[in-house]
Amino acid sequence: MGFIESIKIDDKVYPVLLRLLKNKTGINFEYYRKNFIEKRIKSRMIRVSCTKLNDYYDYLFSNDEEIKKFSDGFTINYTHFFRDWEVFKTFQDLFLASLNKSPEKFTHFIKPSASKLMKFRSTENYKKNQAKEKNRSTKVDPFELNVLAILSPLSLFRKIKGPKTSKNTINIWSAPCASGEEPYTLAMILDNLARMIPNFPDYKIIASDIDKDAIVKAKQGKYEEMAMKEISEYFKNKYFRKKESYFGFNYAINDEIKNKVEFIDEDLTKGHTKPLKYDLVFCRYLLIYFNRINRNKFLKNIENQLNVGGLLVLGKTETLFNKHPVLRLVDEKQHFYIKSY
Ligand SMILES: C[S@@+](CC[C@H](N)C(=O)[O-])C[C@H]1O[C@@H](n2cnc3c(N)ncnc32)[C@H](O)[C@@H]1O
Repeated sequence: MGFIESIKIDDKVYPVLLRLLKNKTGINFEYYRKNFIEKRIKSRMIRVSCTKLNDYYDYLFSNDEEIKKFSDGFTINYTHFFRDWEVFKTFQDLFLASLNKSPEKFTHFIKPSASKLMKFRSTENYKKNQAKEKNRSTKVDPFELNVLAILSPLSLFRKIKGPKTSKNTINIWSAPCASGEEPYTLAMILDNLARMIPNFPDYKIIASDIDKDAIVKAKQGKYEEMAMKEISEYFKNKYFRKKESYFGFNYAINDEIKNKVEFIDEDLTKGHTKPLKYDLVFCRYLLIYFNRINRNKFLKNIENQLNVGGLLVLGKTETLFNKHPVLRLVDEKQHFYIKSY
């Protein structure tokens, strides 16, 4: 087979290709970055031993199975429980600080063991973080200050301080949720706190993803060892049943946690099917796939789903480039933005 250089799709052909793909799959491919689409085409061409772009187009549009395989590449489901665990510490801290509890007393529930962290971070980074942390414990924790500074404008805070009525239920949306690890992480944290803190607020967790198979997996709630690489032993032991399998261990999340999340399969570029306003939206690791123009359109939808004072949480590699008129950065490290008006 000949060597395939990087694929460059002609700018005139590109919109036609996107339209044809949309007709076949219903997916709004125009949201995704062009180079992402080109990479996907190249990888499929290698897979099916095709060296000419036009030949691949013919093959793609005459073969429904290939269309499915091509589209599956847009549903990169990589995720795990407590992915970027400090983000979830911030989430927990916000609840605790709103309830007048000291966040630090609850951190050990979430923090993965040193050996776990070592396994998937480079030793060098790990050592740097350890040094920083040592330093931090002797001073006032700047993060704690940060939490206090952002607390009062949050809709979460307002609701916690208000009377316990259905109007004050805290709404949380994980979008996209892949196979459920992120929304279940949120559910475990809140369930754990609710068992320790009297009069804990009511909350609702909704989770969406375009990938129907991922949603089926999320509803089943069965996971492999890989999904457990950042979870603390505390949460692992408390909320999962461990079972030996041919390939190591399987972990089934308990039914109580399963029942706390409502899953929806939906294409987020087409809006959201629930008539809810949210206090927290976790939209992590989706924007990276979108191009500039459409990511702003998409962000507008997300912004509309947030209450004033609601928080948007992005992935560690994602930021809002230009100064956003409405979504203001409140936690630079964990990428939390507030809907300011
Ligand atoms: C890398 S995962 C992120 C999962 C989780 N938020 C996390 O941080 O671990 C990206 C997810 O985006 C979903 N996705 C891609 N395009 C989408 C769309 N248009 N609408 C909804 N979900 C989409 C994929 O199916 C995939 O499950």
